[in-house]
Amino acid sequence: MCGIVGAISDRNVLPMLLAGLARLEYRGYDSSGVALGGAGGDFRRIRVAGRVAELTERADGASGTRGIAHTRWATHGVPSEANAHPHLGGDSVMVVHNGIIENHQPLRESLIARGYTFTSETDTEVIAHLVHAELQKTGDLLAAVRATLPQLHGAYAIGVIGRDDPNRLICARLGSPLVLGLGFGEQYFASDIAALLPLTQRVIYLEEGELADVRRDSVQVFSADGTKVERTARTIDVQPDAAELGQYRHYMQKEIFEQPTALTNTLQRALELNCAPEVFGPTAGAVFQSTPAIRIIACGSSYHAGLTARYWIEEWTGVPVSVEIASEYRYRQNIEADGTLVIAISQSGETADLLAAVRSARERGAIKVLALCNVPHSTLTRESDLVFLTQAGIEIGVASTKAFITQLAALYVFGVSLARARVSLPDEKLEELIGWLPKLPLLAQEALALEPELEAWAHELSHDHNALFLGRHTLFPIALEGALKLKEIAYIHAEGYAGGELKHGPLALVDEEMPVIVCAGKEAVPDKLASNLREVQARGGRVYLIAEPGCEALADGVHRVLTLPQSSGPLAALTLTLPLQLLAYHTACRKGTDVDKPRNLAKSVTVE
Ligand code: F6R
Repeated sequence: MCGIVGAISDRNVLPMLLAGLARLEYRGYDSSGVALGGAGGDFRRIRVAGRVAELTERADGASGTRGIAHTRWATHGVPSEANAHPHLGGDSVMVVHNGIIENHQPLRESLIARGYTFTSETDTEVIAHLVHAELQKTGDLLAAVRATLPQLHGAYAIGVIGRDDPNRLICARLGSPLVLGLGFGEQYFASDIAALLPLTQRVIYLEEGELADVRRDSVQVFSADGTKVERTARTIDVQPDAAELGQYRHYMQKEIFEQPTALTNTLQRALELNCAPEVFGPTAGAVFQSTPAIRIIACGSSYHAGLTARYWIEEWTGVPVSVEIASEYRYRQNIEADGTLVIAISQSGETADLLAAVRSARERGAIKVLALCNVPHSTLTRESDLVFLTQAGIEIGVASTKAFITQLAALYVFGVSLARARVSLPDEKLEELIGWLPKLPLLAQEALALEPELEAWAHELSHDHNALFLGRHTLFPIALEGALKLKEIAYIHAEGYAGGELKHGPLALVDEEMPVIVCAGKEAVPDKLASNLREVQARGGRVYLIAEPGCEALADGVHRVLTLPQSSGPLAALTLTLPLQLLAYHTACRKGTDVDKPRNLAKSVTVE
C-alpha cells in the first residue's frame, strides 16, 4: 500500500505532487508528507498525521523545483507525523517508500551501532540512513542508492531526494509498482499512472530490480547491477479526466454507475470473437483443450468473483475447479497436476498475497497462469502466460464495484470459451450463453434504476448493527460480496451465507432485530431458497428480498421486496450484485462514513 510521487522541473513541483498524491490516496490515507528541494540549497519536508487535504493546507506557500511525496497506509508504526514519510537519512537525504523491508530490524541495529538516530518506528527509515551512509562513501546519490538496494530484503518502490544534488531524483522498485512519466523539461514518477495523468501520458514502467536517474530533461534506467537499460516510452490510452469525480458525490457512486459502460468495454472483443479462446491470448486454445483442472486464486471481492465462476465453469465444461484465498494457498503444501490452469483474479495486479501465491503455484507443478486483471502492465499481467484485461477503467473507490462486475463478465466469457475449446456443450447452448452477453449493459442499467427504493431500504438498515445476506448457487458468492460491501463501507457487521447453511448455525442469530437480505434468481434453486426464507420469517427476521422476475412465490409476507424488470438468466449473479452495491453505498452515506476511503483499508494491498 502507500502511494509515492516524485517530480523534477524548473517550476514549482508542489502543486503537481499534491495533485498526484490526491489521486493515489486510494492506496492509503492515514498520513502524508512531501519533501522539497529548491535552488539555493533549500531542503525541507512537511508531514501530517492526516490526509492530503490537510497536507495541502500545511504546505501552503512552500515551493521547490524537485520533490517527492507520499500517502501512507501504516504497517510499521502508528499513523503519526513522526512515522509519516519522507524519512530523513542523516541530514542530507530523504526517502519515500511503498512496500515492506523485512530485515529492517537488524539493519536498524547496525545503523544505531554506527551512530544513526532513529526518529520513527518505520521500516523505511533504515533505507534513508543506509543511503546517507553510502553517500558518505561515494558522494554520488545514484551510486548510494544502488549500493543500498542489495542490503534490503522485502518489497519496495522508493523515491529519493538529496540535499546536495539539485539536478536529479532517484527512484527504484522491487515487488512494488513504479512508473516513470515523461514530460517536456520536467519528469515524474509515481506508484500508479493515475497520479501522472494530468501531466503526461508517456510512461516507462520500471521492471523488477531497476532504478532510474530522473533529471529535468531525461530519465535513465539502470538494471540492479548498474548497467544502462534502454527503454522505449509508451503512450497510455487513458483519458486524463478518467480519475475525475465529475457530477458524483463519491467515486464509489460514480463507479457503480459506470458499470454498464465498463461491461460494454470488457465484452467488446469477446463478442467480436464470439468468445473464442483467443480472447485470452494466442496460445489459449491449446491450454484450454488440455488442462485437467482449474485453480482460481484471489483475495476479497476478486475471490468472490472466482467462487461465482466455479458454478459456471464446472456446469458447462465438467473441468474440476477449486477456488482459493491467495493468503491461504501460499502457505499450504500441495502439488499441482501438470497442465493445471491457474486463474489469478485481481483488480490491481499488485496484491502481494496473490503474486506470492502465483509464484508459489509455479513451484508446485507445470502450470499455466491466466491473469484476469484491470491494470495493464501490472506485475500480475507481466508474470502470466495468458491475460484478459477487464476494461473497468481506473477504479478509485476502495470498495471494488466495476472491477468486480467486469471480473464476473470476464469469468463468464472464460467459461464459455473453455466450453468452446473442449466442445463440452452443444452449439445451440453455446450460442444461448453468448447471446446473453450483449444484453448485459442494459440489464445492468435496469438494475441501477432501482436506486430510489434501495435508498429507502438503506435508511432502515443504517440503524442496524448486524445483517445477514443469503443466496444459493451463483448467488451465494454474491451474498458474500453484499455482506463484504456493507461491512467495509458502512461498518455494519454482516455475514453472507449459502441459504442451506442457515440451519447449521446462523439461524440462532435471527430475531426481530436481524435484517436478512436475500438474493433470488430463477436459475439459483429458488424453491430451496424459499424454504430458507420461511425459516427466517418464522423467527421474526426482517427479510429484504431482491429477486428476478419468476421468483414471486418467495415474496409472500417478506418485509420488503424489489424485483428486477427482467430476467438475466445465467447472468443473475451480475445483475443482482448492483442493488447490493447501491444498498451498501446508501447505507454508508446515511451513516456518514467515508465511503471512498473506509477506515483501516487501502485499495491496493501490496503488503502481506
Ligand atoms: C473489497 C475489495 C477488496 C479487493 C481485494 C483484492 O471491496 O476491494 O476485497 O477485492 O483487496 O484486490 P485485487 O483485486 O486488487 O487483487
